[in-house]
Amino acid sequence: MPLGACGPPRLSHISGSRANDILALPPRGWFTPLMSMNIQPLTGTLGAEIHGVDLTNELSNSDFAAVHQAFLDFKVIVLRGQHGMTPDQHKAFARRFGTLNIHPYVKGMDGHPELLEIIKEKDEKTNFGGGWHSDMSFLEEPALGSILHALEVPPYGGDTLFADQQAAYDRVSPGLQKTLAGMTAVHSASKEYGADGYSAAVRQSMDATAAPDAPEYEHPVVRTHPETGRKGLYVNPAFTLRFAGWSRKESRPLLDYLFNLSREERHTCRVRWQAGDVTMWDNRCVWHYALNDYHGHRRHMRRATVDGDRPH
Ligand code: SIN
Repeated sequence: MPLGACGPPRLSHISGSRANDILALPPRGWFTPLMSMNIQPLTGTLGAEIHGVDLTNELSNSDFAAVHQAFLDFKVIVLRGQHGMTPDQHKAFARRFGTLNIHPYVKGMDGHPELLEIIKEKDEKTNFGGGWHSDMSFLEEPALGSILHALEVPPYGGDTLFADQQAAYDRVSPGLQKTLAGMTAVHSASKEYGADGYSAAVRQSMDATAAPDAPEYEHPVVRTHPETGRKGLYVNPAFTLRFAGWSRKESRPLLDYLFNLSREERHTCRVRWQAGDVTMWDNRCVWHYALNDYHGHRRHMRRATVDGDRPH
């Protein structure tokens, strides 16, 4: 029987405020998959740990379908203990979801340009991804998802936070939803990777180029998820500069209002890493934030980024 055809309704089929209701979540352990996969939700809104998946072996089509469905339902999936997953195995898993992105401003791993080595050395103070964002929203076709493998983690801290942008959208009043429906916003890497940008200037352990002429792209403020059809906010503090046709000053109050809504604690989850863990998140509907609270310790992660489509 195809996975997902049994058990309670999938979250992607639950719309509106019901999706925020903890009672709408499938009971723990309901999923009975082909390779003894077990799914444990992390919170009442988003995130799940999937146990019983080994990414050092190629997944069968039906097992991949189960992982893919969990990814759509929970938006953040954590696959613990993927020790020894090689760069090739990492890329092979990522390619099941789509083609891989080569970051325009950060040099990839030697021999594997599609993989980013996200490293903060003991003596560094700045980390990569240390602010709320959605990966690559500054591209014309932003990332579908990112797959992060923890190679070395600090003894404490260094967690990653996630925030559900569909749950945030559900909290917007019908009146404001109507206004936002007709709006687009301008995204660019210029703030982060521009000549004075935080990412380009400060970190030493990762090879980032400044991008003074980073292009600007317009994306809808409310994005319809191409696979589930759910609507979510699609603006973020790192890469959204202003609403199209509005000045930065005019945009600021409404952007700040939406950003505050987007990071409300009630629809966040937190991944506490152990070496070997793999987490994948859906950039089309989730923000993330890499906490920088482990000075004096090394953290080494490796990321594959899956290309997405043009937001609509
Ligand atoms: C990122 O992809 O933004 C980094 C996430 C992390 O290192 O936790």
